[in-house]
Amino acid sequence: MTRTHRLSCRGLGGVATLFATLSLLTVSAVAQTAEERQIDFGKEIYKSKATCLFCHRLDGNGDQGYGGIALSLRKTPLTHDQLIETVKCGRPGTGMPYHDQFAYTDKRCYGVSREDLGKQAPPQAVNFLAPREVQAVIAFVEAKIKGRGPATLEECIYFWGSGTKECDTFKQ
Ligand code: HEC
Repeated sequence: MTRTHRLSCRGLGGVATLFATLSLLTVSAVAQTAEERQIDFGKEIYKSKATCLFCHRLDGNGDQGYGGIALSLRKTPLTHDQLIETVKCGRPGTGMPYHDQFAYTDKRCYGVSREDLGKQAPPQAVNFLAPREVQAVIAFVEAKIKGRGPATLEECIYFWGSGTKECDTFKQ
């Protein structure tokens, strides 16, 4: 009886240790994936919901046509806060659209309203973004575009997946 009791206690101790180890492992795994998930979520916004892709291209190198010359996101010198502000507020006097629904209704953007800006007001985005979507798209830009050299095949495949022809130019 005593023996069984002692055994089961030890058994429980083992289970407790195992459980503690497992939950530690789970916590670190979750912390990592949360960040990766945010970046992937941002990638989808870049491609579809906000169509940053149309003007800034996949490699963030900017495009000469649509919406004027979109600056290179690879070479951007902007800080994290400035990147967030640019996406929320757009850039007055240029084709960079604003993505915060209330950008120019109060003076949250650059301290000015639409009336103040008049014709200099930037265009409205195709879709407005919620604050967490802005955070995600910038997390993606900072992790995968900003400060990088020319786009590589590997980056192209990360962006489009391997089942498309989008990356064929890299293979030639
Ligand atoms: C309709 C075209 C268009 C779309 C869509 C667009 N941009 Fe832009 N973006 C521009 C243009 C044009 C500029 C250059 C503004 C200027 O000349 O200062 C710009 C500038 C920027 C800049 C400033 C770069 C710098 O170094 O000053 C950032 C950051 C940026 N865009 C990020 C984004 C992101 C992220 C998205 C998607 C959420 C996006 N843009 C969607 C056209 C666009």
